[in-house]
Amino acid sequence: MKNKPILIRTGITLLSVTLLVAVIIFLTSSKGPWGIDSGQQDTKGLKDYYKNFFPIGVAVGPNSFDGATGELVKKNFNSVTCENVMKPALIHPEQNRYNWEPADKIVAQAQAAGMKVRGHTLCWHAQTGAWMTKDAEGKPVSKEVALARLKEHITTVVSHFKGKVYCWDVLNEIISDSANVNKMYMDTDPWFNICGEEYIPKIYQWAHEADPDAILFYNDYNTENPVKREKIYNMLKKLLAQGVPIHGVGLQAHWNMNNPTEDQIRESIDKFASLGLKIQFTELDVTTISRRDTSRAFTPEKEKKQMEFYKMAFKVFREKKDKITGVTFWNVSDRGSWLDRGGRKAYPLLFDTNNQPKKAYWEVVKF
Ligand code: G3I
Repeated sequence: MKNKPILIRTGITLLSVTLLVAVIIFLTSSKGPWGIDSGQQDTKGLKDYYKNFFPIGVAVGPNSFDGATGELVKKNFNSVTCENVMKPALIHPEQNRYNWEPADKIVAQAQAAGMKVRGHTLCWHAQTGAWMTKDAEGKPVSKEVALARLKEHITTVVSHFKGKVYCWDVLNEIISDSANVNKMYMDTDPWFNICGEEYIPKIYQWAHEADPDAILFYNDYNTENPVKREKIYNMLKKLLAQGVPIHGVGLQAHWNMNNPTEDQIRESIDKFASLGLKIQFTELDVTTISRRDTSRAFTPEKEKKQMEFYKMAFKVFREKKDKITGVTFWNVSDRGSWLDRGGRKAYPLLFDTNNQPKKAYWEVVKF
């Protein structure tokens, strides 16, 4: 080096500096060296990959915006659903008492983060205070009393969140799981038992009157089962023919690694969209627990199978993006899911127990 002419020495130095800068840019690029994001240290979250498709939501509780989980939520999702606190039993625990605070907290935090809020749910057989449908002796109230209570509940809740909650699951899970095509409704539902199907158009009308801008959904699970799908389709078709203000159908998507098939997901989207309804996948998770599996471990086999399932599902969602206005995950990460019961772990989400993206995550954002 010492004996080389000054021009050559300057050239070599410049070349080295350029190479060094190039290597630094290459390694620190948000896309990572291989063209995909190399971890959650990058600036893109799930919602950003899907910004030209549909909002990506998540079911949360009042503390989900705290700490590292809060950062994960804000980075990856642009819509939230209250997992429990907007349900009748929690928001309206007694006839003359509403408990707004937990839901208001979530709505305020979501709004501050620029996220949309889905409302869940106004009328359901579960998580509904006994006071709503029973008298002091525990006997079912009359139809008139039941309808008056429902109207008051729906009007008050929808009005409270008017302009803050953009859509509502007005009615949740009324269709029977029975394989009998003639058994349409869940006969364990107290509202149905007292009112018959007469309350269904009414609850949509009351929600619409309280907030004419709110998008009103029917929400259910097992919507890829052909028999149940047909029943839901028939109910929605009838309601629409009656002019009931119903705008969308929520397909919950509590799935497992074998069910449903790609074709069944496609068929559900097309069938409900043919009614002119918008589709949202409202409670997505893919459990890795199967009936005979007693382990708590997330084995490499489960990891691979779940990754393939998620890859397939999001491929269909992207393909059908014109019909889909939202995809919401039911819980944030494998740290905690409603499916973790009886000492078992379901590992159903895209983020692991350390809140880190799983292999399935990288497949979902690779397109
Ligand atoms: O808050 C109480 C707590 O005080 C008590 O100590 C504890 C003891 O079990 O229970 C707590 O309540 C639980 C509640 O979740 C809040 O964690 C209930 O027992 C439990 O039943 C309830 O489960 C919820 C379930 O709906 C009720 O059916 C799940 O969190 C929630 O994820 C789940 O969500 C539903 C959707 O709304 C509709 N579609 C199906 C979906 C999954 O079941």
